[in-house]
Amino acid sequence: MIILAIETSCDETAVALLEINRGYFKVLANLVASQINIHKKYGGVVPEVAARKHLENMLPILDKALKQAKVTPKQIDAIAVVYGPGLITSLIVGVEAAKTLAMVWDKPLIPVNHVKAHILANYLKGEQGKLEDIKYPALCLVVSGGHTSLVLLNDPNDLKTIGSTRDDAVGEAFDKAAKIMGLGYPGGPIISKHAENADKEDYKLPRPMIHSKDFDFSFSGLKTAVKYEWEKERFKDEKNIRKMCAAFQQACIDVLIAKTLSAAKHYNVKAILLGGGVSANRELRLQLAAKVKDELPKVIFSQPDLHLTTDNALMVAVAAFFETQGGLAKFRDNWKNVKVDPNLEV
Ligand code: KG4
Ligand code: ZN
Repeated sequence: MIILAIETSCDETAVALLEINRGYFKVLANLVASQINIHKKYGGVVPEVAARKHLENMLPILDKALKQAKVTPKQIDAIAVVYGPGLITSLIVGVEAAKTLAMVWDKPLIPVNHVKAHILANYLKGEQGKLEDIKYPALCLVVSGGHTSLVLLNDPNDLKTIGSTRDDAVGEAFDKAAKIMGLGYPGGPIISKHAENADKEDYKLPRPMIHSKDFDFSFSGLKTAVKYEWEKERFKDEKNIRKMCAAFQQACIDVLIAKTLSAAKHYNVKAILLGGGVSANRELRLQLAAKVKDELPKVIFSQPDLHLTTDNALMVAVAAFFETQGGLAKFRDNWKNVKVDPNLEV
């Protein structure tokens, strides 16, 4: 089965072609046209600009992906597209492109939830090989610019959110903390770079909701604490920037790990997964892996390959593959039916 997948939920125009046969996969193409350099100037994604860029990028990137994969439209079995959650103006471009292709080429169209795609990216390790054997029930910590949640999975299509952020997403907090210190956009990679080998104990920051009995998060107070501490700081030099980045990053990681471990114990899961843009964070990956090994040695820990942590279309293709386990028939006329849903939930 060959799936062509499209993702335009935020500021990356992404197209991928994935082949899956009897539990084995091969990446035929995985392209991302990033708009980071455009949005950098504004310190965040400007929806109107993002949508226009998606429109400009869509046909060239589709063409390039098909050429790279050496696949003709005839060989494609299904088209997959993210229909939510995300920015409505961005989602529309991908969904309309996918619907048009599905109609013209007469293909089934599989609508995919963006958050679910981040989670199921864990099935793909490397460029080809066997799909990962994920044990269920599994718990996924989803951390991105738009989401921070704990999702319980009984199988790839049975997902339930058991906790989520009550205000800012953790990626958003990284982006805002970086902005407070004047470090640029997106904040996640910049903060993690500055935090390397820096003293994380010097600034004292809160760990919001770390002891609450539920599995929810809150990051807006932490961001505000960074703001107050930074305003008080007389010496805003490189050394202090590095210390603040390290303190902030560790505060986020402490809360994320504590909540994930307590949910994993509560639901007695067999696997803990990580997903979303913030799962590119090296310290989070290392510390969560170490903590699982230490406290839950029987639980398997999985994190997505680095290039599949931030938005991409390959994760959309693999999620679509699992959607089609009951056959392709019900997706046949979907080019008429699929609608964007910016607030789609898991
Ligand atoms: O999943 P993603 O590409 O888009 C959304 O679905 O939101 O996530 C983007 C987010 C941004 O907030 C970015 O700052 C964050 O992921 N991010 C990181 C790192 N790399 C990207 N956060 C922390 N550490 C990183 N290394
Ligand atoms: Zn994402």
